[in-house]
Amino acid sequence: MHTARLSLDPRRRVAPVPRRLFGSFVEHLGRCVYTGIYEPGHPTADADGFRGDVLALVRELGITTVRYPGGNFVSSYRWEDGVGPVAQRPARLDLAWHSLETNAFGLDEFMRWLGKADAEPIMAVNLGTRGTAEAVDLLEYANHRAGSHLADQRRDNGAVDPYGIRLWCLGNEMDGPWQVGQRSATEYGRLAAQTAKAMRRFDPGLELVACGSSHLGMPTFGSWERDVLTEAYDDVDLISLHAYYQPVDDDLRSFLASAEDMDTYIDAVTAIADSVGAIRRSTKKIMIAFDEWNVWYQSAAPSTPPSGEDWPVAPPLLEDHYSVADAVVVGGLLISLLRHSDRVAAACQAQLVNVIAPIMTEPGGSAWRQTIFHPFARTARHARGAVLDVLRAGSTTATDRYGEVAAVDAVCTWDDSTGELAVFLVNRGTDAPAAVTVDVSGAQVTGIIECVTVGGTDLAAKNTADGPDHAEPRPNDTARQADADVRLTLPPASWTMLRMRATEATR
Ligand code: AHR
Repeated sequence: MHTARLSLDPRRRVAPVPRRLFGSFVEHLGRCVYTGIYEPGHPTADADGFRGDVLALVRELGITTVRYPGGNFVSSYRWEDGVGPVAQRPARLDLAWHSLETNAFGLDEFMRWLGKADAEPIMAVNLGTRGTAEAVDLLEYANHRAGSHLADQRRDNGAVDPYGIRLWCLGNEMDGPWQVGQRSATEYGRLAAQTAKAMRRFDPGLELVACGSSHLGMPTFGSWERDVLTEAYDDVDLISLHAYYQPVDDDLRSFLASAEDMDTYIDAVTAIADSVGAIRRSTKKIMIAFDEWNVWYQSAAPSTPPSGEDWPVAPPLLEDHYSVADAVVVGGLLISLLRHSDRVAAACQAQLVNVIAPIMTEPGGSAWRQTIFHPFARTARHARGAVLDVLRAGSTTATDRYGEVAAVDAVCTWDDSTGELAVFLVNRGTDAPAAVTVDVSGAQVTGIIECVTVGGTDLAAKNTADGPDHAEPRPNDTARQADADVRLTLPPASWTMLRMRATEATR
């Protein structure tokens, strides 16, 4: 049996829960847009061609923001191809994913869809094949009220009110050799700074994200962040991080502890950004946009884009089918993001539908939840208020990749408007359950609202269109209140959410 003692106190707060932590990502890639969120003629499609069954699941998932339109796709995208009368929009070759982009869906459709999904946009601009001028054009089209060529074009296209998009990504993964228009850090940093300055002439209040490394293993990791921020520190607000996880050599324990890697990555980029700031004697802090993260079986064959003569429209790409173990890892990654809520201001699970996604669709048929849907939906719904600093003590478990790690990882949120404490936990031990004591000071726990678990058994099971749903959270009835403590048991390799009612002690 593993053991863990978690000490928390509503007076010890890390930061307010950034609601933008529960973002997602829609890229023109595979079937994310076409036959994913958009499928005119589908039995549930509305007048705009948006699938109603998908929208219902998106709302249930509880996403707060959506990054669009890429991803690698954005680096050779011409945004203006996707606006105006659909019959006049050109079909183009998408060089990133070797597909034919019909442009039937573009910015205006995305913004209409997003309104129905009740989420905020994160708009990426093309700094691969394009530059400052086109980024500013897109900004004018999207955000200017009226009276200029592009704003009036948007109004003519049916969107009378400006979109007021606040958060913008200056390119995507510009360090990657796979990126159309890859640049050196200094080249990119200068372009990002120049583009940011131009965009701020329109609206100084925009929030701008510079590209960090494509992942922690990039050979230029570290120097890339330093050099980009040396050029762009004063002009941007956030720097991006991307990370995808999969088991290596069937090493389940290391896979379950993927949050260790995410913690290291966030801490490293924070330190680099702060060191650039310190050298500049700046009081400004660069925040983190973890705007692509997930489990992704990158070694799987269907991840390879098609090639050759054929340029298919919306081919099935990156359609990973997730297991219960993958859901536990996703729950663990959300714990890491929440733990860093003093520096991670936004995050996007990549992606939303069909492409390494929590939601899958059958063209013309049903939409269904993958296993990874559940920890995301529960965390997005119940992580409210402030993140608390959780002091952890207890047993460790051995991993090949990260050495000895705490068997139980956890984070806690406290919502003083409702008096709800929510604890999110993962037992990364695969060999034994974990007996957990949650020790609350500074508040009186008055009851347990709910305790649910995903995993522990059937770790390899995957959901399908016809069910059953293997990762549907099931009641964990071990949770018991004992004076100031709450005790519960976590099955091996599992994710758990414990919600309690508490009243804060009078000071
Ligand atoms: O999310 C899939 C791809 O992964 C994105 O297009 C790219 O930014 C990343 O490499």
